[in-house]
Amino acid sequence: MKRIGVLTGGGDAAGMNPALRAVVRTAWHHGAEVVGIKRGWRGLAEGTFETMSAGSVSGILHQGGTILRTFRYPEFATEAGTAPVGKTLKKLKLDGMVIIGGDGSFRGGTKLMKEFDLPVVGVPATIDNDIPGTDISIGFDTALNIAIDAVDKIRDTATSHGRIFVIEVMGREYGLLAAQTGIACGAEEVLLPEIPYEIDGLCRRILAGYDRGKHHALIIVAEGAGKASYITFEIKERLQRDVRMVVLGHIQRGGSPSGYDRILASRLGHAATELLFAGEYGLMVGMVSNKLKTSSLEKKGRASAEAVLLDAKLQEILS
Ligand code: F6P
Repeated sequence: MKRIGVLTGGGDAAGMNPALRAVVRTAWHHGAEVVGIKRGWRGLAEGTFETMSAGSVSGILHQGGTILRTFRYPEFATEAGTAPVGKTLKKLKLDGMVIIGGDGSFRGGTKLMKEFDLPVVGVPATIDNDIPGTDISIGFDTALNIAIDAVDKIRDTATSHGRIFVIEVMGREYGLLAAQTGIACGAEEVLLPEIPYEIDGLCRRILAGYDRGKHHALIIVAEGAGKASYITFEIKERLQRDVRMVVLGHIQRGGSPSGYDRILASRLGHAATELLFAGEYGLMVGMVSNKLKTSSLEKKGRASAEAVLLDAKLQEILS
């Protein structure tokens, strides 16, 4: 393995930079050259890259986003988007590639293996934490802490005014970020894509909370469970009370990675690169029960709902 590529794909996640640093420095440790693909899959199609040295990843450990940049590039799933990737790969003459990203990027990685015979390994990075084969993905802890910080602030206003707040968090179709925000912030309610709900029942529970002496109601909505604007409107209509809405949105994605994410990213980035040098590929490295664990890169799909349901139950009992 003399020359490897590295790419960050999909939505940026805090910790992609420490993961990239680990990949580059591990490869240098093995005396290999590293080519950083700029702007994710689109960059691979357009042939934008830079040769990286150990020094290219200095001073990035604490930076959010990805210095390689990223791009949503669904075209790679089509024939038209595939041909230019083939051209770039021919030019780059890589012996292997590390993909840092989520499910979509791993589908791309699988395609690189199958259609271009390139050894690929994956490092799970997405704030959604929805990738099977790892208990936690890079970026989740930072995003969770950002959401906690925001909800703690909203709570002060909610309590002062006795208000109901509907707070929408990211997570695509997976509710773990919302469920854990709910536990960590003592939210009254959590609405998740994995659990059906109806607004009348929700309103009854909110009123029962006030009757028990609560001074506010914090309702965390996973973006996959419905629009906060709709839920806010429906509650207002039924209860005729002061209801406000906050959509946290992209605030959760950026910012300096937490200590946990820096360590996780360093471990996973290093371990994935070591796999390539050991001649093992077609694998993602995850963290399962606090141990590094490999799983197939192919057919990842979405993680099981089990973790979300367990946390939802805990939130319900403790609220
Ligand atoms: O997958 C990460 C994520 O932040 C999701 O939680 C969210 O649904 C999506 O990306 C938003 O994507 P974009 O930044 O492309 O709008």
